[in-house]
Amino acid sequence: MAMFQLVYVSSVASGRTIDVREILAVSRRNNRIAGLTGMLYADSRRFLQVLEGDERDVMATFERIKADPRHRAVVVLSRREIAEREFGAWEMAHAEPGHDADALLARVDALASGASAAVRATFAGFVEARRAA
Ligand SMILES: Cc1cc2nc3c(=O)[nH]c(=O)nc-3n(C[C@H](O)[C@H](O)[C@H](O)COP(=O)(O)O)c2cc1C
Repeated sequence: MAMFQLVYVSSVASGRTIDVREILAVSRRNNRIAGLTGMLYADSRRFLQVLEGDERDVMATFERIKADPRHRAVVVLSRREIAEREFGAWEMAHAEPGHDADALLARVDALASGASAAVRATFAGFVEARRAA
């Protein structure tokens, strides 16, 4: 069955301290029910998330996520059909600053290579800010 993958970046809403564990707990519960999997990178300022699953479920969940006041400036880096899950079977894996984040960014870099100049600039800014952090 064809599957869908969506990747976005966003910024933590200003003045907020985010409890990533709480986001992960709710995400895993909901995503299990919807058959969604993926990966969430979070540091004190930014998020990067990969969502994979049935297109309708991915988009319904993404609409909810986009409206979440805990972040802003949501920019989609990539959205495409995939033959199979590319980021593992986790309901929502957690990538943290450090090695796993570098590996994640390298993979997302390849995915975002076909995006518009504006989107690629957003992603480049994300990578830069992460290196400086
Ligand atoms: C960066 C970020 C990533 C999120 N990822 C997911 C997700 O993968 N799945 C999900 O159901 N909710 C996710 N959420 C939470 C949703 O915005 C929303 O709060 C939640 O789905 C509501 O669930 P509930 O109606 O069961 O309380 C995320 C929120 C943020 C800020």
